[in-house]
Amino acid sequence: MDSKNANRIGAAILVAVLAMAGSIGAGYLVVPSDIPAHALFVLPKPADGGQPGAAGPPGAESIAEAVTHADPKAGQALAARMCAMCHSFAKGGPAMIGPDLYGVAGSAVGDMPGYDFSPALAAHKAEHWTDDTLSAWLEAPARFAPGTRMAFPGVPEAGDRAAIIAFLHTLSDGGK
Ligand code: HEC
Repeated sequence: MDSKNANRIGAAILVAVLAMAGSIGAGYLVVPSDIPAHALFVLPKPADGGQPGAAGPPGAESIAEAVTHADPKAGQALAARMCAMCHSFAKGGPAMIGPDLYGVAGSAVGDMPGYDFSPALAAHKAEHWTDDTLSAWLEAPARFAPGTRMAFPGVPEAGDRAAIIAFLHTLSDGGK
């Protein structure tokens, strides 16, 4: 290969690289790189192929339905990350910052033995931990029971809450 050819090839590569760098740079200018981690809004899923919202409010899978479809293993992993610093999940496990949660699903609110609940949560004693109450609680503890000692911001994603609740269902002798 003579040096003229080598120069031409070199120049061609240089031009190509510059053009590529330029278009990447322009791309960064045009498209903001800090894309939000979550969609800003979620389009409602049409129910039964009908109009969105035709059957009840948009996205209206009840939490109980979501729990039956959820994966308890995924819930266990979430709970290990989000809850285990304050709660044990073992049968007869110790109260930590919060009460042991074995058997909590279906039990009366604020009724785990050996734990001194806040007046805020004790005020809900007449209620039970159904999928609905658990979901409302886990979404925003301080909204469910203003003044609660559970210093936890909440689990914003309904799917994550459903998985955690499905996991809580497995923590009982009856299995459900
Ligand atoms: C920072 C510590 C902390 C974290 C994290 C935390 N909790 Fe709690 N939790 C508490 C405390 C404290 C209470 C008792 C609240 C009260 O008495 O007001 C509680 C109460 C509860 C109760 C009510 C129990 C009963 O018998 O009524 C449930 C259910 C519960 N937590 C579930 C969870 C789950 C599930 C997670 C993870 C998604 C979680 N908590 C994360 C501290 C925590």
